[in-house]
Amino acid sequence: MNTGIQSPKGIWWKPADKTEKLWVGIAFGWCIVLFAMMPLWHLKGAQNPSGIRHRVDPPAYARRVNEFIKQYKIGEDAGHAVVAPPPGSDVYLQARMWSWDPVLKLQKGVEYTLHLSALDLNHGFSLSPVNLNFQVVPGYDYGLRVVPTEAGDFRIVCNEFCGIGHHIMVGRVIVVDSAGHTPGAATGGAR
Ligand code: CUA
Repeated sequence: MNTGIQSPKGIWWKPADKTEKLWVGIAFGWCIVLFAMMPLWHLKGAQNPSGIRHRVDPPAYARRVNEFIKQYKIGEDAGHAVVAPPPGSDVYLQARMWSWDPVLKLQKGVEYTLHLSALDLNHGFSLSPVNLNFQVVPGYDYGLRVVPTEAGDFRIVCNEFCGIGHHIMVGRVIVVDSAGHTPGAATGGAR
């Protein structure tokens, strides 16, 4: 029987085996590599958003979005303006309880600067089925340089709980290829 005073029988006080030392060394080295990767990836990683950030007054952002809609509107989809901005332009997307505006029609392989901001509270931009997630924060204009790499009819799902209508907060992004086609697009006023 062991008490706290008598040490139990065992071999744990013997010097560590060569292989054990080797594995501890490998594990330690790997820890150092991962530790170094944290700041390195933060600065150099390809996953990083371009992050153009500005403070913005929510009403001022709403005015900018309206101006953008007026400038490039091509139609309507279920009460939301469909906007086709020219390649290289600044694109504005507005989140509010519980909608995304406008519906964006973009071209594949062309760069845009996508601005995200909210008018009321925090929302989450999640592009489905592509796994892209960004915070959408009121008072904060978050600019992302994006190049749509795939034509299709995408949905923007809000992934930040924003109240009773959170689950119905779905937006739409249509990406057309160079021939103007959208594979899998639903029929409707959006095209
Ligand atoms: Cu907006 Cu949840």
